[in-house]
Amino acid sequence: MTTAPVKVAVTGAAGQICYSLLFRIASGELLGKDTPVELRLLEITPALKALEGVVMELDDCAFPLLAGVEIGDDATQVFDGVNLAMLVGARPRTAGMERGDLLSANGAIFTAQGSALNAVAADDIKVLVTGNPANTNALIAMKNAPDIPAERFNALTRLDHNRAISQLAAKLGVAVTDITKMTIWGNHSATQYPDLLHAEVSGKNAAEAVNDQEWLENDFIPTVAKRGAAIIAARGSSSAASAANATIEHMRDWVLGTPDGDWVSMAVPSDGSYGVPEGIISSFPCTVSDGADEIVQGLEIDDFSRAKIDASVAELVEEKSAVQELGLI
Ligand code: NAD
Ligand code: LMR
Repeated sequence: MTTAPVKVAVTGAAGQICYSLLFRIASGELLGKDTPVELRLLEITPALKALEGVVMELDDCAFPLLAGVEIGDDATQVFDGVNLAMLVGARPRTAGMERGDLLSANGAIFTAQGSALNAVAADDIKVLVTGNPANTNALIAMKNAPDIPAERFNALTRLDHNRAISQLAAKLGVAVTDITKMTIWGNHSATQYPDLLHAEVSGKNAAEAVNDQEWLENDFIPTVAKRGAAIIAARGSSSAASAANATIEHMRDWVLGTPDGDWVSMAVPSDGSYGVPEGIISSFPCTVSDGADEIVQGLEIDDFSRAKIDASVAELVEEKSAVQELGLI
């Protein structure tokens, strides 16, 4: 191996998502089969014993690309010099809760981790928040890391993006690979807006291919937006392997770039595009080249989409006010 290992921090490392995520990072699915990785794993003290067991299993895989693993419960030590941070660790919701109900339970985690990253992360740090409520937790981390450029903080809506592709492919009886230009707008919550008006199926407009407004409004959108709750109802706990998969895909595309002619959904700090106010982290259609993401510009937003985007953005603004009141930002 010629390149130096990329230091990847992962929090909540003894949890469900990480039981899939860590093994996929270590096998090379994040950065490719030529890039060694060093894992820096953060947990709370009572979970360190379980995390030691996970590390034993990582050892037992003898992954050629895994250059080292460090674990700990001190964010400042674990995040020292890290290039990528995947902030997964947070309490998941249970049946009957909305993700916003987790704000006070989980918000404080991200003040501490934001300031630790600010103090010790590498200059090229990229931070992806998966722990819920992901958009607002990412905002909290960003606001507590004033020396890290704001655009280095993203939140995960790639799982919603993938869910939308899968639902559309099933409806049309096509392969998932036929679908491009899917967009999730807004919050990773039940108010999110999965947008078929700009998506394409084999290069043709997806909404026209579906040609069923009733399905689009009353089936597709709620199925995608409420899929997290449906998984909790079916599995008894929240999505894990699919969330790990989406976390890998988001970070991989952020580092290595998005495919030509397509875009992905990423929750990024708004620059005011599409009337989404600055100061929140909201999902947009994004492309990435040379490690920098850009919001796709120039899409026409009709009245239907406008109302849906505005509703989700209003929720993000409310979440921001709530964490301001809690003194977290
Ligand atoms: P889990 O309960 O199995 O694991 C969470 C882990 O985080 C636990 O091991 C816990 O000890 C650890 N943790 C708690 N506080 C911590 C801290 N301060 N520092 C480090 N670790 C800490 O939960 P999970 O199923 O792995 O889910 C993790 C989070 O991801 C939840 O908030 C869940 O709602 C969220 N999630 C988000 C998406 C998404 O698409 N954005 C999808 C699925 C799940
Ligand atoms: C999901 O979308 O599966 C996660 O955000 C978990 C949840 O609470 O829905």
